[in-house]
Amino acid sequence: MTVPRQADVTAGVSGQANVDMLTSVSRNFISDTCTIPTDGQMLAALGATRGDDVYQEDESTQALEARIAKLAGKEAALFAMSGTMTNQLSIRAHLTSPPHSVITDYRAHVHKMEAGGIAMFCQATTDTVVPSNGIHITAEDIEPHLQLGNNIHYRPTKLLCLENTLSGMIFPQDEVIKISQLAKKHGLKLHLDGARIWNVAAVELESRGLDARKEEDLQVVLTDLLNPFDSASLCLSKGIGAPIGSAIVGSQEFIERARWFRKAFGGGVRQTGPMAAAADHALTYHFPRLSTTHALARKLAEGLKGLGITIVAPVDTNMVFFDPTSIGLNMTDIINRLESLPQPIRIRGERCVIHHQTSPQAVEEFIDTVARMKSESSVEVVVQNVNLSRKVGEKQVKKDYRLPY
Ligand SMILES: Cc1ncc(COP(=O)(O)O)c(C=O)c1O
Repeated sequence: MTVPRQADVTAGVSGQANVDMLTSVSRNFISDTCTIPTDGQMLAALGATRGDDVYQEDESTQALEARIAKLAGKEAALFAMSGTMTNQLSIRAHLTSPPHSVITDYRAHVHKMEAGGIAMFCQATTDTVVPSNGIHITAEDIEPHLQLGNNIHYRPTKLLCLENTLSGMIFPQDEVIKISQLAKKHGLKLHLDGARIWNVAAVELESRGLDARKEEDLQVVLTDLLNPFDSASLCLSKGIGAPIGSAIVGSQEFIERARWFRKAFGGGVRQTGPMAAAADHALTYHFPRLSTTHALARKLAEGLKGLGITIVAPVDTNMVFFDPTSIGLNMTDIINRLESLPQPIRIRGERCVIHHQTSPQAVEEFIDTVARMKSESSVEVVVQNVNLSRKVGEKQVKKDYRLPY
């Protein structure tokens, strides 16, 4: 049986409570996880098979895994409950026994935001690297951190983990390739936290003039992006808006080892078909909307920048980091003012995230509200803004600014 495909049943939701929730998430800039399943996704879930995935007997789950493995150009894929789980399963599956260590960017989710999972599950040390260019780590940045050789005082490096996007910024593929060559030279594995690799793929498709609605075009791009990696974790519940789930891709042998750990982690879930089908629907119908999402992020960044606000990191995809102190405004005041609108807009701080259900009107109201606050305040500060260009060579972050995520 193939996974049921509904005609795109619009982006709508039924039931007043869900309509209200959709309005709420359309004005929520806290994360791209702040989305809700559409009726189309729920209908896809209804049409899913109901087999037991622990026994590998669910066709809808297997169809999603096969689809993602093919798109990624890898032998196999494994569906799991969350991005944290797929990262930690991957890292655990790569590592054998201590002593060993993993190299990551100092801001990496796998290091900072996964409850110390690497130490807990792998007994591994994390060596963190600060990017010398302020944007992404490079092979040159990584090299001095490698722990190689037989010195018994060392913690041998066994794995490098990259993140793409990181804070919405795209990792240049030529640098990914250099890092993968460094990994190969020293017999190290390379894992990608590709929670937002779909966003990178959407930008890449656009820049190559390919069609985001065509499976074969996405396959070409995603395969290229993931080719340097031994494994990757691809979140389904962020950019593309699945209610639940993330997938690991890699070799058949690696996926079987990850499946074993998934069981041990308590992540062997039984009737996963409806979740897989909702995610499959999102991949078909929400992925092509990512370029609109990115345009909306640029609109927000340009609107804020036009007011004299500093945009502190390049806006490559769906995230905007801003510093309002450049026009004498305080972040807490902005958060409170947006929250007190008749229809509240929610942000948590400098990081604003756009998703496929963000409303263009919310972006306009966001900018208008900050503009009103600016005109109410008498402070005028002249600032130099960063370039919003996507070209790597032109990227810069505000001097000495350390992105918190
Ligand atoms: C870059 C990155 N990786 C992994 C995760 C983990 O995903 P989950 O929340 O599904 O565990 C997140 C979550 O926000 C993330 O931003």
